[in-house]
Amino acid sequence: MLIRPRRNRRHPALRRLVRETQLSPDDLVLPLFVQEGEGLASAIASLPGHARLSIDRLVEKAGEAVALGVPGVALFPVIDPAEKDPRGSAAAKPDGLLQRSVRALKAAHPELLVITDVALDPYSSDGHDGVLIGERIDNDETLPILAAMAVSQAEAGADVVAPSDMMDGRVLAIREALDAAGFTEVAIGSYCTKYASAFYGPFREALDSAPRSGDKKTYQMDPANAREALRELSLDESEGADWVMVKPGLVYADIIRLVRDHTALPVAAYHVSGEYAMLRAAAERGWLDYDRCLLESLLSLKRAGADVIFTYGALDAARLLRG
Ligand code: PBG
Repeated sequence: MLIRPRRNRRHPALRRLVRETQLSPDDLVLPLFVQEGEGLASAIASLPGHARLSIDRLVEKAGEAVALGVPGVALFPVIDPAEKDPRGSAAAKPDGLLQRSVRALKAAHPELLVITDVALDPYSSDGHDGVLIGERIDNDETLPILAAMAVSQAEAGADVVAPSDMMDGRVLAIREALDAAGFTEVAIGSYCTKYASAFYGPFREALDSAPRSGDKKTYQMDPANAREALRELSLDESEGADWVMVKPGLVYADIIRLVRDHTALPVAAYHVSGEYAMLRAAAERGWLDYDRCLLESLLSLKRAGADVIFTYGALDAARLLRG
């Protein structure tokens, strides 16, 4: 007798019954870029379909996410170069661009989850996630600044603060500061295993946030390391992270699986700007079918173990999934 796995693939209804992974708009988070001004949507060359939006346009775009059943947005502010300094002082301003954006979003769309990024790079004149002192990114100088930034985001109404800076001890510093300020219900979505990746290029173009000197290899993880992810995971768990993220996504699917198998926390994956841009670029040339490759990419992240997927294709995917 010949064993025939193809029998289970014969009929579309049978394939639906035996399908192991389902992708849903419920899984998705849409990253958005916000800038000062009104009525603005300035294109980002390397991120087709995305733009730097003024707050009014941001609120409109977020309305599309709500209408399509996407539960959350992740916000990234484009800061005026004149406001940038070595300590990223503008990050905790109560009336800063990010803080006003969060307030506007929560007022217009209370049902939408607003996730804010905690790291200095959009605000730093050095383009680093922490404070640069001499040639070094100073970990412990950075922690209180990140904590103040997170508290200021919580005051504005952020539901989840997402430290993406990779300083040691930042989850604990942020948790303690949030609790002390009375924000015990604001969650920490930690970018737990964030790698020093070349796939962040389009994002840095969008924010004009590339490091002015050096690189991020002394704080972001070495792409060669997997075991080290478990060390970051256990630290973030013990410091009080509510969920952990692996970033980038597709090229780190093994890390998503590893983290999934070692934690009871929800796991997020970030399908980063470069991963999205590659699909768009190939589709523009007629080399790939964007819709199908996007859904397959996101499904792969889910199959690898991600519960939550950050993707620039969130609206496209939600539209496709709703048929
Ligand atoms: C900032 C931050 C980065 C991304 C998210 N938060 C860039 C970086 O670390 O340089 C990248 C996201 C993407 O490429 O889509 N700390």
